Amino acid sequence: MSEPLKIAIAGLGTVGAGTVKIIQDQAETLNARAGRAITITAVSARDQSKDRGVDLKDIQWFSDAETMARDADADVVVELIGGSEGIAKAICETALGKARHVVTANKALLAHHGIELARMAEKSGVSVQYEAAVAGGIPIIKSLREGLAANDVNRISGILNGTSNYIMTRMREENLEFGTVLKDAQDLGYAETDPSFDIDGVDAAHKLAILASVAFGAELNFEAVHTEGIRHISLMDVQFADELGYRIKLLGIAARTGAGIEQRVHPCLVPKVAAIANVEYAFNAVEVECNFADTIVHVGPGAGAGPTASAVVADIIDIARGNATPVFGVPTSSLSAIPTVPMVQHHGAYYVRLMVVDRPGVFADIATILRDHEVSMESVLQRGRAPGEPVPLVMTMHETLEANMNTAFTEIAALDVVVGEPCVIRIELLPG
Ligand code: NAP
Ligand code: HSE
Repeated sequence: MSEPLKIAIAGLGTVGAGTVKIIQDQAETLNARAGRAITITAVSARDQSKDRGVDLKDIQWFSDAETMARDADADVVVELIGGSEGIAKAICETALGKARHVVTANKALLAHHGIELARMAEKSGVSVQYEAAVAGGIPIIKSLREGLAANDVNRISGILNGTSNYIMTRMREENLEFGTVLKDAQDLGYAETDPSFDIDGVDAAHKLAILASVAFGAELNFEAVHTEGIRHISLMDVQFADELGYRIKLLGIAARTGAGIEQRVHPCLVPKVAAIANVEYAFNAVEVECNFADTIVHVGPGAGAGPTASAVVADIIDIARGNATPVFGVPTSSLSAIPTVPMVQHHGAYYVRLMVVDRPGVFADIATILRDHEVSMESVLQRGRAPGEPVPLVMTMHETLEANMNTAFTEIAALDVVVGEPCVIRIELLPG
């Protein structure tokens, strides 16, 4: 039997404590699968007195995580603190500088510094593993880097943020407003330390940028991801979408087009009959369209202690087995720079909800502007009658150029009968 693989873990919160639990509870299984014991030799967090529901006796405690990354008796440093800068980055750099493998669940760090870390790992001859950083318990990184390695990927899309999906699901099922549900997602351990990352689409954008790099063999480019969140979606929009035969999902989509790679994260109306419409609560889904294996759909829990720690431990097992895969699927020197397609060039269908003053001629004014910008309406819905008061006016648009939509709705928003900002949501016409 080989020497045990020695692990130092920084961060003992939802994912860190979950990782310790799996390594301890599943010791025999892991030993058999890895061909050697996996031993936690050191841990670090802020508060040593906190009960984390796991047994930490006989494990060296470091009050400074960076010191641990440098000095602990460990082959692997597992970074489970979070944040793109500061201590998390310092730990990973220190560990790689000392030729220790790094395992992390930190998509923010990878989205901003993934290439630098990958270069450091290549120089030191160690790996950076990050299965837990994208889609929680779903082994999407392994699927892309290994299972689908024979293919060219044309498009990768899906639900990449458990918190947003959980919120959208409960809003629809229980007729709840956004803010009420966010608190529950935080209590369940799904949300980021700063939950605005979840609800403003930033977390999903981090994950999409990582996926696009691995899927397309392209340089990771977080700045290229067009990012919108779900903060502006009201219960009224969820209910109108339902009435029109759709559900609202926060999707991440990266696709090759003739002009380059489109990367976008935003809420979408998807037909209720589409498979992705029925991926609910904190579940994620990732659909990969490729040239030989066709379309592969991955669905599973996208957040929370068990699923995320399961992915962390899978990475540790890979290291214990001696498996080494380039961080982004190919050596960093082979990653290509691919032009980004700006969102104004997007061509798609749209849902729009306006609050308009209920008086004659309003609709004619709106229709005139749409005609002037070659935006073609598919359907229109107005509920209720309140002369002189604002009422919702809901429209869906046939496929059109986003630049035209933007100009048309800037003009429409400026009409004195339109109250507040229009709520514009793209429609993804996915097959059932
Ligand atoms: P968390 O519950 O807030 O835990 C963070 C841990 O980091 C805590 O144990 C905290 O210590 C420790 N910590 C904070 N600052 C530290 C410092 N300066 N030195 C040492 N330890 C420090 O966060 P989490 O949900 O487990 O997330 C951890 C990482 O996993 C993040 O990158 C997150 O994006 C990622 N992730 C989370 C999930 C999920 O479902 N939660 C899923 C996928 C990926 P104390 O406990 O002493 O305060
Ligand atoms: N906050 C993230 C989410 C955790 O809700 O999806 C999983 O990455």
